[in-house]
Amino acid sequence: MPSTRESRNQTRLRLDSGQFDVSGVLVPDADEPIYRTSLGALWSGDCMDVLPMIRDEVVDTVFADPPFNLGKEYGERTNDLRPDYLEWCYQWLSECVRILKPGGSFFVYNLPKWNIPIGAFLGTQGLEFRHWIAVELSACLPIPGRLHPSHYSLLYYSKGKPKTFRKIRTPIALCRHCGKELKDYGGHRQAMNPNGVNLKDVWTDIPPVRHRKFKSGDRKANALSTKLLDRVVEMSTVPGDLVIDPFGGSGTTFAVCESRRRHWLGIELDFADVIVDRLERDDIRSHRNDDFIED
Ligand SMILES: C[S@@+](CC[C@H](N)C(=O)[O-])C[C@H]1O[C@@H](n2cnc3c(N)ncnc32)[C@H](O)[C@@H]1O
Repeated sequence: MPSTRESRNQTRLRLDSGQFDVSGVLVPDADEPIYRTSLGALWSGDCMDVLPMIRDEVVDTVFADPPFNLGKEYGERTNDLRPDYLEWCYQWLSECVRILKPGGSFFVYNLPKWNIPIGAFLGTQGLEFRHWIAVELSACLPIPGRLHPSHYSLLYYSKGKPKTFRKIRTPIALCRHCGKELKDYGGHRQAMNPNGVNLKDVWTDIPPVRHRKFKSGDRKANALSTKLLDRVVEMSTVPGDLVIDPFGGSGTTFAVCESRRRHWLGIELDFADVIVDRLERDDIRSHRNDDFIED
């Protein structure tokens, strides 16, 4: 007998959100994507060339995980040491705001240092602040003369009142060794919802990803955990909604969208081949986490 959680997940999987007509969200004479599935489309190129090909206010959620300007080596074409980094960010951010529907959600994953001005900029573009989500880092080197950095920032804004915000519950924490519950919840355990606790704005349960998995030759796509993307997609969209990620990397956003039956638009400068390979061979049904979605 499947648990309530399992049977609800199965029901969601059976929802058929239909074939995605990508031409409906593009301007006339837009370039053809290099790859399509029944749910999404991928362009290989610079997001500043591709974003203008998308019509105004057609996207339900934007998720962006740009290079952090740390001088990291990505592929050949990425410049990860720009003197004009913020100016560059403001350009692609403006394009993403333009294509976002009223009520749509906007997520940016970056260093706290960059997400402070990026958040302020989004405010000037008419977006509303919802959350600064701290995503705990398990392994990060200490910096002399500073506090030990231990989180990345995930900004969450919306274009006006969010049209979709699905409540997420996370499982009650258990000891890995003995299986017993780790907290007593101040003596209120019996009164708690059996489906778990309300998702907080500090995420300590996002596992690191072994980059080797999405390596192609010497090139490294900096993959995020599917758990993080699964949460973003589940929280802010319903099946059939459209998600865009202008910095596709290894394709985590698109793999999760395939798994959750969301439509998607993807752009990637250097690793489009890695994304196609991943989507062709990934077991998309394996992208599951233990969150409970309270519809
Ligand atoms: C931090 S990684 C994204 C990783 C992705 N979230 C994942 O989970 O796999 C940033 C990506 O942006 C790509 N990139 C850099 N500049 C770009 C641009 N102007 N347009 C599109 N993609 C770009 C890089 O090649 C890199 O793969």
